[in-house]
Amino acid sequence: MGNFDPVCIATWSFPNASRKAGELLTAGATALDAVEQGVMVEEADIKNTTVGRGGAPDREGNVTLDACIMDPSGKAGAVVYFKHHTHAVSVARKVMEDTPHVILAGEGADQFARQQGFKKEDLLTENSRDAFKEWLKTKEYKPIINIENHDTIGMLCLDSQGDIAGACTSSGLSYKMNGRVGDSPIIGAGLFLDNEVGGAVATGMGEAILKSVGSFLIVELMRQGKSPQEACEEAILRIIKQNSNYKEFQAAFIAINKKGDVGSSCIQKGFSYMEYRGGKNVNFPSKFYH
Ligand code: GLY
Repeated sequence: MGNFDPVCIATWSFPNASRKAGELLTAGATALDAVEQGVMVEEADIKNTTVGRGGAPDREGNVTLDACIMDPSGKAGAVVYFKHHTHAVSVARKVMEDTPHVILAGEGADQFARQQGFKKEDLLTENSRDAFKEWLKTKEYKPIINIENHDTIGMLCLDSQGDIAGACTSSGLSYKMNGRVGDSPIIGAGLFLDNEVGGAVATGMGEAILKSVGSFLIVELMRQGKSPQEACEEAILRIIKQNSNYKEFQAAFIAINKKGDVGSSCIQKGFSYMEYRGGKNVNFPSKFYH
């Protein structure tokens, strides 16, 4: 065991995921193993309609997952438009560790997963199929703030060696267009870390997060001396400046630095994050702009 007090932070109130990662860290796991296993809890939870199996489909009825992972050395892996396997984050890790690439998409990503031994699954559940049939009656596309774009688990862990890793996994916006990819698998947007500085992850309206490259921005602001809180607030202000319709969507960031200081900011009231530290697993309301 190293000299650092391990910390796990994760978007929204997914206590089982942060507890899993936190307990692994406390037992001496690496940050990379902890983030993977932590977010896998939500990927497997079919009650969570925004991550993994049970996630809401696109307008054609396809559940398509986006996920990425980064390790302390700066290596990264991702899958996008990923259709047939619950644990997108684990396939992203395989992309990082066993291929010369960073992102695999669609059929190629699924083929790679099968080659790696992942079992093919139907990601639509009875509930998500019924909800989709209900949605088809109106076909209205208007994600409900803090509910239908409450879409992503992003997690950052600082392990007892003082190393940081991160992961982000999502089924994306409910009833998105077929082919749409969000911020969650995009390094720099949905997730970024530099083990010398800290890390950041995002949730909310992927289009706004992509345009701001928000997670990269936060890490660079921390590098320049800002606290995680100040850096998250600055990233949210950039999104507000870029999007005159910012009152119509949610976007949120959480961040951690090498000392284990944590920050969080979002546009709309209602976002919260989990923090596991010293055996305590606590949900904190985030600071918000509006
Ligand atoms: N933040 C996830 C997405 O927009 O797909």
